[in-house]
Amino acid sequence: MTDNVVVLGSLRNRLAMSLTGGAAVLAIVLFFAVRGYASQIAQEGQDNILNASVSSILDAAVLREGAVELDFPYASLSMLSTSADDRIFYAIYEDGALLSGYDGLGAVPPVLSGKSVFTSIQYDNVTVRVATASRTLIGADRPRRVSVSVAQTQDALAETLNRISRNVAVFGAGFFALTTALAFWATSTTIGQLSRLTTSVTRRGPQDLSPFLKPVPTEMVPLVGSLNTLMSRLDQSLKQSEEFIAEAAHRVRTPLATVRSYAETTFQRVQKQENRDALRSMMRAIDESSRAAGQLLDHAMVTFRAENLIREDVDLDGLLRDLVQRLKPVAEMRDVELHLDSTAPALIHGDSVLLQNAFRNLIDNALKYAPMETTITIRVQTTPCISVEVFDQGQGFLPDEMDKLAGRFVRGSDSEGHIGSGLGLTIAQDVALAHDGTMVLSNRSEGGACVTLQF
Ligand SMILES: Nc1ncnc2c1ncn2[C@@H]1O[C@H](COP(=O)(O)OP(=O)(O)OP(=O)(O)O)[C@@H](O)[C@H]1O
Ligand SMILES: [Mg+2]
Repeated sequence: MTDNVVVLGSLRNRLAMSLTGGAAVLAIVLFFAVRGYASQIAQEGQDNILNASVSSILDAAVLREGAVELDFPYASLSMLSTSADDRIFYAIYEDGALLSGYDGLGAVPPVLSGKSVFTSIQYDNVTVRVATASRTLIGADRPRRVSVSVAQTQDALAETLNRISRNVAVFGAGFFALTTALAFWATSTTIGQLSRLTTSVTRRGPQDLSPFLKPVPTEMVPLVGSLNTLMSRLDQSLKQSEEFIAEAAHRVRTPLATVRSYAETTFQRVQKQENRDALRSMMRAIDESSRAAGQLLDHAMVTFRAENLIREDVDLDGLLRDLVQRLKPVAEMRDVELHLDSTAPALIHGDSVLLQNAFRNLIDNALKYAPMETTITIRVQTTPCISVEVFDQGQGFLPDEMDKLAGRFVRGSDSEGHIGSGLGLTIAQDVALAHDGTMVLSNRSEGGACVTLQF
């Protein structure tokens, strides 16, 4: 049934891919965001110490007798010492001219008095962070502008950043693994709902077209709604066609019976052999049609009652005793003995009309296909479960046809010369299935066909 369905990818894979893809992007974004934030914090730490260092040097600058004097506070550099032994550079300018320190730390930027300006530059082939601030000293003759730059390499900072990056990467990978596991769990729970619907639809019997009533998630409501509408339409049209067949069969049967009786009366009257032959073939054709109409009617009735099964306690022993009694005259015409092998009541919960119809078809088959002057046995057993076997002393089923004979309108090759429509075993099987039972065809070792209905 799924052969002609065009497959367009897998929902499970698509869901899992989007969720894990999202998790990967999130982990990468998280990595860069945390790393960026950490490096900003670390940089701020270094800048604060550089600022303190620059300020303490600037504070030491004084104007004495018209000249700038600066008693260098060595603590201002020692506060910059790091575990990575970063190198430190400084430069002191008076009105733009280098007073002391390393030249080339960069031109003094236009700094506001007291506030440090921070830049990162290449100095001596390494990247250094430079803090620069300036201060104006008011002298007797003119104001002097003293600027101080302190620079530091960034080895300790890089080390800290590497450590943070490693930790964040491990954290990111853990986050990714966790979200991937969650994604797979979420995918299988989501798809699980669909699978449950599929299982419960496929588990239904072929006759079950009742609506799907189990609770489903909101997103699946339209699908289940459409499915239920489709099933109810199907149910409706099946019922209509069964009703139509039953009605048609009923309408055909009555005029056929009239034609049959006319043909029979005419048959009694005509003497000419060829007319008698023609009338015989005509009666046979009428019998065939009449049987077909009768079986179609029964089949429609069985289908309808099986769908709306009204169960009551049925004693199979009593039911079969009754049936055998009624079929005795037909059996006697063929010199066939009907033997009921049943000793105790066999109670089942079912529809007696359907059960009777099924057994009548099985006995009818035995009467039809088994030779004259034989015995047909109907054996009822109550252990291990309730079962009824109908077996005869005929030639049995043809082994290579056996598994197809219960199909609609299927007749065996041994049916030639016997009136029938191929619905008897279908009816019996439908009745067994409606009672949660089975029908098994077999051949007995001592010869003869055997049909077992198990309940
Ligand atoms: N007791 C039996 N012995 C041998 N063959 C049988 C026996 N019962 C059934 N069959 C075979 O199984 C076929 C199907 O049986 P089924 O009762 O469904 O149809 P039918 O008897 O041909 O027609 P009808 O609808 O009138 O019963 C028969 O045509 C026959 O070949
Ligand atoms: Mg039959």
